[in-house]
Amino acid sequence: MTAPAGIERVLFSEEQVAARIREVAGEISQKYRGRDLKLIAVLKGAVFFLTELARAIEIPVKIDFLAISSFGGGAPGMVRIAKDLVDPIQDEDVLLVEDIVDTGLTARFLLQTLAGRAPRSIGICTLLDRTVRRIVQVPVDFRCFEIPDRFVVGCGLDYKQLYRNLGYIAVMHPDKS
Ligand code: IMP
Ligand code: MG
Repeated sequence: MTAPAGIERVLFSEEQVAARIREVAGEISQKYRGRDLKLIAVLKGAVFFLTELARAIEIPVKIDFLAISSFGGGAPGMVRIAKDLVDPIQDEDVLLVEDIVDTGLTARFLLQTLAGRAPRSIGICTLLDRTVRRIVQVPVDFRCFEIPDRFVVGCGLDYKQLYRNLGYIAVMHPDKS
């Protein structure tokens, strides 16, 4: 299959992504063995990762979703909850599922917000981690891939809402990103 225009190169192939998600699902199943786990995905990007992860986890899982929107002219970290969870998370083991942790500002806001609802535990699982751009420290419990400082798309990640459905992770051409 030829890559669409705007894609510079494939960073992780569909096979690599699938294999790594299965590995991480194994680690998660082991850590929470004997318990039920609630996976919370941030719309829209993390949905693709969540479904693949959930299918590979071997303990009982529940899922829920939230959406955020930015305010303050798009300054990093200025986010609020635009669509909240359907169910409470009190006394539950919660894993926040993210497509990418970049500056860490979004993840920190969500962690703090959810921690205030008295879950039994809360952790973060991210498909991609770009630690070189971190502004605030967030405890990432599970990560599939560490990535370089380049804009990436695919596996749920978008550029202007496109490319989410690519099965692989790709670096955008610099002119486009
Ligand atoms: P943070 O608050 O800087 O950690 O931003 C995380 C959010 O920014 C992610 O959930 C993505 O929606 C978006 N984002 C950051 N880097 C990329 C990228 O390389 N490709 C696509 N979206 C990105
Ligand atoms: Mg996005």
